[in-house]
Amino acid sequence: MANTVINNHHTNIDDGRSESGIIHIENICKVYGSGETEVRALNDVSLAIKQGEYCAIMGPSGSGKSTAMNIIGCLDRPTAGSYYLDQVNVANMNDVELARIRNKKLGFVFQQFHLLPQLTALENVMLPMVYAGIKPGERKDRAKEALIRVGLEHRLNNKPNQLSGGQQQRVAIARAIVNHPVVLLADEPTGALDSHTTQEVLDLFNELNTSGITVVIVTHETEVARQTKRVVWFRDGQVLHSHLTPHELHQLVLS
Ligand SMILES: Nc1ncnc2c1ncn2[C@@H]1O[C@H](COP(=O)(O)OP(=O)(O)OP(=O)(O)O)[C@@H](O)[C@H]1O
Ligand SMILES: [Mg+2]
Repeated sequence: MANTVINNHHTNIDDGRSESGIIHIENICKVYGSGETEVRALNDVSLAIKQGEYCAIMGPSGSGKSTAMNIIGCLDRPTAGSYYLDQVNVANMNDVELARIRNKKLGFVFQQFHLLPQLTALENVMLPMVYAGIKPGERKDRAKEALIRVGLEHRLNNKPNQLSGGQQQRVAIARAIVNHPVVLLADEPTGALDSHTTQEVLDLFNELNTSGITVVIVTHETEVARQTKRVVWFRDGQVLHSHLTPHELHQLVLS
């Protein structure tokens, strides 16, 4: 099993501004199809994200953001290059190994929430602990704790269709943090929410980041990116800017 620890002379990427990082990608390529239909979705991408960062990934449609997120989230493998997640090279792991890493290290939040409609909020949040092998007695307590953390202690027994969009997304966030992930990944988490609810969800991300969780969000909305601490800008399958501040982003969008 690929289990390589990064050695020091491998850490000098990203303009030398980052140490090894919790997410450390080196020279990654992702090619879909072959011959006539070949698409190079990622072309030699290197990127490091340190523990405790709060980062937005932005860029035009088709620039490779979701492809990068799928690789960072261990949902897909790169065609070439290495990916160290929390010091372990996961680039060549098989599906079973990747699933184990996902469950242990990562939390996911999606635009469409992806809650199971027949389960209550509490049961939805308990689910990742079933896969993680947490004892049944402990699951309920931890799920409750996570739902309290997102402000939903009064909705434990409601099913998703009895909750507002913002409440459903908060259940999804509780589910994402219940196994204490090292990184929280979100692909357009506010894409289906109105501006008031978007702000509630962003306040929650901010709070989780302040408590130490590394947060990475893909977004099209400058208003969302503005509330993170770092913006990574993709274009044509490459990282065009790896350390835009939200202020620099604002200037870029205005220019
Ligand atoms: N499964 C696939 N098969 C073939 N090509 C793909 C596949 N997935 C993505 N692509 C191509 O790879 C490129 C990058 O796609 P990706 O979905 O990463 O872009 P994106 O930045 O997330 O765009 P959007 O903002 O529209 O979500 C695009 O040209 C896309 O058409
Ligand atoms: Mg996308």
